[in-house]
Amino acid sequence: MLLTSYLLFIGLHVSEGCILVKSSQTLFITANAGGSVLLPCYCTDLHTKPETFSWQKNSGNKWEEISSESGQYRDRVQLVNGHSPGNLSLLISHLTEEDGGDYHCYADKSGYLFVSLDVKACSLENSGIPLSISAHTGGSVLLPCYCTDPHSKPERFTWNKLKKTRNTWEEISSESGQYRDRVQLVNGHSPGNLSLLMSHLTEEDGGWYKCDLGGCEHIVIKFTVTVSPQSLPFVPFALVTVIFLHIIVAVVYHTKRTKDPARVHYSTADGDAVVCLG
Ligand SMILES: *[C@@H]1O[C@H](CO)[C@@H](O)[C@H](O)[C@H]1NC(C)=O
Ligand SMILES: *[C@@H]1O[C@H](CO)[C@@H](O)[C@H](O)[C@H]1NC(C)=O
Repeated sequence: MLLTSYLLFIGLHVSEGCILVKSSQTLFITANAGGSVLLPCYCTDLHTKPETFSWQKNSGNKWEEISSESGQYRDRVQLVNGHSPGNLSLLISHLTEEDGGDYHCYADKSGYLFVSLDVKACSLENSGIPLSISAHTGGSVLLPCYCTDPHSKPERFTWNKLKKTRNTWEEISSESGQYRDRVQLVNGHSPGNLSLLMSHLTEEDGGWYKCDLGGCEHIVIKFTVTVSPQSLPFVPFALVTVIFLHIIVAVVYHTKRTKDPARVHYSTADGDAVVCLG
């Protein structure tokens, strides 16, 4: 009797299969390009192993099976069940913008769980927080701007400078104008590093700069260029010193004269001598 009900229980349990948590709902997930994301999907009972299940992605109105063996997801997807057979979550790594879209998880006959994945090309670190930076004339400066994920690569971004007179942002180019051959991007090692290196600084380089990815993603920097003492030309500096010494000599001479107007004290090779001027 007991055995029968036990078998009955198991039988019911097996026939039930996997019932998806949040079945027929849609989860909205955002991730960064270059990073990885876990698309969650699991059975109500984590010990249930579904007889059939799959992950599919919608591409042009048809659902295509996701495989780690070929295609877009080759070697980038894996099932991570954390030792629970009922955990059907999918880990996608090295995300690209093309990975964004609609996914669904299907298990036994319990329906679908939908996941809408948004892959951001680059979300800027400290976006919207103005920075203040200063440097000396003649020197160089790195205007910082980088994606939270260093591997992500924005499709398009620009560096701009505020033209005060017209109150408009103008794109900076190393090919022409004020910045010709003086600016360069340093993203060689990490595509998400959009920082701008500017050299041979002049006073005119001071002002407002903007690293812009479009939308709300931008960094604004107030850049101040101060005149470096080292950049003062040597000749005028020497000249100032000489003039200053002359003034000291003149003052000393004048004080001496007012004390004793009739005499000038001077040295000769033979020793001290006093000349009287009448
Ligand atoms: C499923 O497995 C992943 C990876 O181990 C884990 O992060 C997640 O929490 C698990 N989900 C559940 C509901 O246990
Ligand atoms: C970006 O690149 C520059 C130059 O190589 C480096 O100094 C800076 O630390 C980098 N920034 C980040 C956040 O990696």
